[in-house]
Amino acid sequence: MTGPSDPLRRIHEEWRNRVAAEYRSAALTAQVVHWTIMAALPEELVTRALRIVQDELDHARLSHDCLVALGGEDLPAVLDATALQEPVTEGILAALVDSVTRNFCLGETLAVPLFNAMRKHTTHPAARKVLTRVLKDEARHRQFGWDALDALLELDVDGVTARVQQRLPSFLEDLRQAYAPEGTAEPLRADERAAGLLDLADYQSVFWGTVSEDLPRRFDNRGIEMPVPSSVDG
Ligand SMILES: [Fe+2]
Ligand SMILES: [Fe+2]
Repeated sequence: MTGPSDPLRRIHEEWRNRVAAEYRSAALTAQVVHWTIMAALPEELVTRALRIVQDELDHARLSHDCLVALGGEDLPAVLDATALQEPVTEGILAALVDSVTRNFCLGETLAVPLFNAMRKHTTHPAARKVLTRVLKDEARHRQFGWDALDALLELDVDGVTARVQQRLPSFLEDLRQAYAPEGTAEPLRADERAAGLLDLADYQSVFWGTVSEDLPRRFDNRGIEMPVPSSVDG
């Protein structure tokens, strides 16, 4: 049974969170499928998004298999239904621009180097199996995001550019709080790294590397200026 003094507690909690996060990705991508159809974007984008829904369901199932293989079957993954959708506050098109920008252009672009870093130290077979599959898919998910953004820009270049520029600061700040909170954490044990966990210092360095080079360059190529988030530690 997992308890506060259980040496496997952090491993189990992390994999339980990953089950929920992957499942949420499936739900949010399904919403993007619907909105992409409503916005009459090219059918090939809909087809690619449908495949991503299945990928994310696969990631969730494999992550759960990994949680069980690591002995965490007592820990049910709790799903918050309200988190399984993005809000529509200013119409479908704005919601689609927001979700593509936040969950794909930012989220999936950051996911690629993060999963790469995680997989480097992972030796546990169940964890390695998930991370290998996820890493194989994420570059395609990232590409979907930028291609969908391009299609939206083609639809309304001024409106979409303005919307993305307006939303970027808060999206980036949410991402920074999630992946690179300030401060330090006790380094992980070798067995935790072997089970696919990543040190806070590695999260921070991947986050800052991505927001200072890869992301601004990709937005800049589309005429969108991305503000680099500020950090207390500079
Ligand atoms: Fe995923
Ligand atoms: Fe993904």
